[in-house]
Amino acid sequence: MTKQKTRILVVDDEEIVRESLAAWLQEDGYRVEMAPGGEIAIERMRSGQWAVLLVDLKMPGVDGLQVLEEARKLQPDASVIIMTAYATVDTAVKAIKMGAYDYLVKPLRPEELSSMMERLITQQDMMRENILLKRALKQQYSFRDFLSKSDKVQAIFDVAKAAAGSASTILILGESGTGKELLARAIHEESRRKSGPFVAVSCAALTETLLESELFGHEKGAFTGAAFRTKGKFELARGGTLFLDEIGDISTKLQLDLLRVLEERRFYRVGGTEPIDVDARIIAATNRDLRKAIDGGTFREDLYYRINVIALTIPPLRERKEDIPLLVEHFLERLCIETGKRLEGVSAETMDLLMSYRWPGNVRELKNILERGAVLVRGPIIEPADLGLPLSEGDEGQEGAESLREMERRHILKVLNDHDWNITRSAQALGIDRVTLYHKVKKYNLKEEEC
Ligand SMILES: Nc1ncnc2c1ncn2[C@@H]1O[C@H](COP(=O)(O)OP(=O)(O)OP(=O)(O)O)[C@@H](O)[C@H]1O
Ligand SMILES: [Mg+2]
Repeated sequence: MTKQKTRILVVDDEEIVRESLAAWLQEDGYRVEMAPGGEIAIERMRSGQWAVLLVDLKMPGVDGLQVLEEARKLQPDASVIIMTAYATVDTAVKAIKMGAYDYLVKPLRPEELSSMMERLITQQDMMRENILLKRALKQQYSFRDFLSKSDKVQAIFDVAKAAAGSASTILILGESGTGKELLARAIHEESRRKSGPFVAVSCAALTETLLESELFGHEKGAFTGAAFRTKGKFELARGGTLFLDEIGDISTKLQLDLLRVLEERRFYRVGGTEPIDVDARIIAATNRDLRKAIDGGTFREDLYYRINVIALTIPPLRERKEDIPLLVEHFLERLCIETGKRLEGVSAETMDLLMSYRWPGNVRELKNILERGAVLVRGPIIEPADLGLPLSEGDEGQEGAESLREMERRHILKVLNDHDWNITRSAQALGIDRVTLYHKVKKYNLKEEEC
């Protein structure tokens, strides 16, 4: 940024200091404005934007530290320099801990101020460049909001982009929390139907009868309690995309209904006689192994072929660990905005731990764990202890695989104990579904009394 574009606000109650500072800085080519006290400075911060705030520590009324505190909220991108007399250097050090860029001791020397300003502006420029670079990189590694630098996922992006432009039914496979819904939304956004609605329905959450009317709607009086004619998801998704989540969980009767609807491209409301045309792109998803379900007789093979026109399988997070740093950065950036905290990142030990963990709940679990870390962390760097993940002691050498399992076992046990063995809440905290958690409890033979 050029000096003329760098706006500086000088805050000091002494007119002579204010005026001479402003004169020096203007001579150096900066754009300077002045405020004679803390109250006015805060008022100005609400309406304008400054790159640098030069603030006197001791002022009557609202003092420098209070201005600094407000600046952190109102002008988070601004650098604050505190000015102080010798007697209060301790407070200036405190100011730095509170997020000030640096402090200057009065009486000020013009050369000292100039060189500090040069240094600061260079740093701000570098940070800005860094942000732009990161943004460009992120774009390269994303399909709408879905981020990944893994080759496997990049290949999925290519197919998904091509498929988005077609009208084909798409099947998305992947473990719980791998981003199936996010990918479905990205495909919708990328399609010609993007101005239409994206309607998601979770097939696992409802009983057979409820799901039937949820999907196809019902006429008034179709069954007890059907007081009004109601539109189903197929109708609501008109002109857009219908996302049939957890399709592996629907009953065989509904599978047959669905097969007919997909073949004939029309359906009837429950209790209705008028056929309604399907005008929605269908994207189905499941975390189940449908081939196995077909072999076991719980999923219709003909429906499988009908929905499996284009299949996209998202690999689990543990098979694309290169995505972990990318996702950590992405989630922390969002958490900074949501929590108002200044999170700079995770420590090297934390990253090691995140890289060696197995992530049974995939990206959702990573997101949940970072959210928890952002709440618990005191400083700007997230340490292993802030995450509540078990430390990876002794997971080197031949025992590697064994101890990873042990790590998962201990982690699940801890989360269960933390949530009084409430399966729903524990599953949520782990970022996995309840069924998966039940399987793990059984697999690891976990018991409530074990602590
Ligand atoms: N690659 C990614 N980039 C950014 N965010 C992601 C990515 N993958 C998943 N997420 C986020 O993780 C969370 C879980 O993703 P999503 O709900 O799409 O998973 P899912 O596969 O549908 O899970 P489930 O099978 O449990 O329904 C969401 O908050 C989503 O935004
Ligand atoms: Mg989902």
